[in-house]
Amino acid sequence: MRIAWGITGAGHYLSESYEVFSELKQRHPDLKVSIFISGAGEEVLKMYGLLGSLDSIAPGGYMEEIFLERDQGKSYPKVGRFLMDKYDHLIISPATSNTVAKITHGIADTLVTNAVTQAVKGSVPVHIVPVDIAGVVRSELPYNIDRDLCQNCEDCPPKNECPKQAFTDEPQIDLLLCDGCGNCVDLCPYKAIKGGEVELRIRDIDSRNVRILRGLDEITVLDEPSAILELIL
Ligand SMILES: Cc1cc2nc3c(=O)[nH]c(=O)nc-3n(C[C@H](O)[C@H](O)[C@H](O)COP(=O)(O)O)c2cc1C
Repeated sequence: MRIAWGITGAGHYLSESYEVFSELKQRHPDLKVSIFISGAGEEVLKMYGLLGSLDSIAPGGYMEEIFLERDQGKSYPKVGRFLMDKYDHLIISPATSNTVAKITHGIADTLVTNAVTQAVKGSVPVHIVPVDIAGVVRSELPYNIDRDLCQNCEDCPPKNECPKQAFTDEPQIDLLLCDGCGNCVDLCPYKAIKGGEVELRIRDIDSRNVRILRGLDEITVLDEPSAILELIL
């Protein structure tokens, strides 16, 4: 079986999606997975320390590549594969509210939304795990500095030893430089660096878009990443 996995820029359900695909590969090493990552998806994967781990799922070679938005121009030629009978499924997990809104309104202007468009045109089953379904969700944060605990030390070990030089002078963590390695957490004597969680209220418009998505014939909505296991196994 050959699967295309689309990843968008959502922190919510990101590690769960990664775990599900890792389990699929462990249980079926011959499963071929290609990964299509939106521009925001690449940044957010890096912030959560997952970008470098994806090659355990898509190690390279034909039909096991990782495609990044920034390498795919404006016309996304690699999504032509969906018209050529190369994939058995396209699974988008996690799908941001932005990507869901675009799909429900027929917009294809990113690598992942183009993959969905071409998959539908090529009769490839599309399955989407939206993050913003309804109510309130708890979402994992990337590393950040707790200002109540930070003592603004002149000599800041996390800043001095960050391999990505992701700390600014203030200090703040520049998340576009951070790769989520977490080395800084133990280096701060005041335990001021944390991940943590936030509670988010789902917007009405995002719930409505998920309902529209559920009504589309060509697309299946999965309520959480673990449903991918049932689907594929
Ligand atoms: C750390 C971080 C976490 C994010 N988590 C979410 C999320 O859980 N859900 C969401 O809809 N957007 C989230 N976003 C915002 C999206 O990345 C942003 O809307 C982006 O433009 C989506 O583009 P894409 O849909 O093409 O991937 C997050 C952004 C950051 C920096």
